[in-house]
Parts: sequence; C-alpha cells; structure tokens
Amino acid sequence: MNHDKVEKNIGLMIVLIIIAISFGALVELVPLMFQKQTNEPIEGLKPLPALSLEGRDIYIREGCNVCHSQMIRPFRSETERYGHYSVAGEHVYEHPFLWGSKRTGPDLARVGGRYSDDWHRAHLYNPRHVVPESNMPAFPWLFSNKLNGEKTGAKMRALRAVGVPYTDEDIANAKAEVEGKYEIDAMVAYLQQLGLLLQ
Ligand code: HEC
Repeated sequence: MNHDKVEKNIGLMIVLIIIAISFGALVELVPLMFQKQTNEPIEGLKPLPALSLEGRDIYIREGCNVCHSQMIRPFRSETERYGHYSVAGEHVYEHPFLWGSKRTGPDLARVGGRYSDDWHRAHLYNPRHVVPESNMPAFPWLFSNKLNGEKTGAKMRALRAVGVPYTDEDIANAKAEVEGKYEIDAMVAYLQQLGLLLQ
C-alpha cells in the first residue's frame, strides 16, 4: 500500500532516495573521521622540509599528478612492482593529497631512493636521455627557473592552520632554505623523499 504511494509520486521518491543515499554515505564516512588508522600520522612522518614543499607545488603546477598516481593498491601485482601498499597515515599532512587513479606513467608513491639525483635530473631534462622509449614530456625550464622563497613561510603557515605541525623555526628558516635554489633542486628533493617510511 505505502510502497504504491512512493512508486507513483516522483517527488516523494526523490526525497526518499536522497535520504537513503545520504544515510549510506554517513555510515561509510563518519567512522573514518574518528579512526586512528586513517587520521593519525604513521611513525616517523614529518611535514615536508621547505625545499621539498616547493617541489611539491611545482609537481602540481606541471601536472605530474595527471600522469602519475601516488597510491599503491593492496594487490600483489602492485606491491611487487612498487613496494608496500599505501596507507592513509602517510598522507595526513598533505593538502591536497595527490593519490590520483590515472596512470600514464608508473605510480610514484615510493619512488624516493629508487634512482640517483642525477638520474632524476637527466630524466626531467629529457626523459628520452635515460628511457629511450619514454613518452613523458621534458621539463627543461626547471633548470633555469630560480626560487626566491618569498612565499614558502606563508605556505607553511597556511598548512599549519589546517593541522600540519610546522614549528616557528621551520617557518622562520623557510626562505633561506629555498632562496637561490633552482626548481629542479626542489623537484628532486620532493621526489627523493616519497614513500621512504614504508618500503
Ligand atoms: C604525459 C604524461 C606524463 C607527465 C605529465 C609526467 N610523466 Fe613522468 N612518466 C611518464 C611515463 C610514460 C613514464 C615511464 C617512462 C619513463 O620512465 O620516462 C614516466 C616516468 C617517470 C618517472 C620514473 C618512474 C619509475 O618508477 O621508473 C618519474 C620519477 C617521473 N616520471 C616523474 C615525473 C615528474 C616529476 C613529472 C612532472 C614534472 C612527470 N613525471 C610528468 C608520463 C608522464
């Protein structure tokens, strides 16, 4: 009887569907916000140092995350290729996170330490120099663009406002750590620390 009414009244049907879906979403999402496993940093996790933080912003600017994911799924085919699967606690200081799902290139979640700094420099200058069949774009301007560090401290303050534990000292030293370095230095520093805590 009541079911009949719902089926014949599209407005009521829409409202009930929205309630049903919202309830389902809340049941899935709300517990995650309170679970230690998903919102506490894993042991040893530190906020990115100034130079790597700038490297991360260049990574976003250049769209590296459009071709590269940073999330290893818990399947054997993934863990044998890339290393330990990704866990939420590795990413709690990331705003925004760069997990992604599209992989034109390999996952980079644990690329830190896999190659030398020189390999990365050669690869970013022109990927074909080290991987002849590569179709990754070249990023030669990273070698001539200099960083001035004017905004690095402000970026850290903004991240601190959303819970990333930067100290006053980190913020005070940020400009000096970045000033005069090239974008390529920042990019390599960022790549070389990715995923080192779980291997
Ligand atoms: C158009 C897609 C595309 C974009 C954009 C791109 N890459 Fe790649 N990347 C690839 C492909 C394809 C490969 C595999 C071939 C190779 O090693 O060059 C690769 C490989 C890599 C590797 C080696 C990974 C490994 O495990 O061997 C690194 C590191 C890397 N890219 C970093 C970057 C960075 C940093 C940027 C942004 C500055 C970037 N990529 C932008 C497609 C892309």
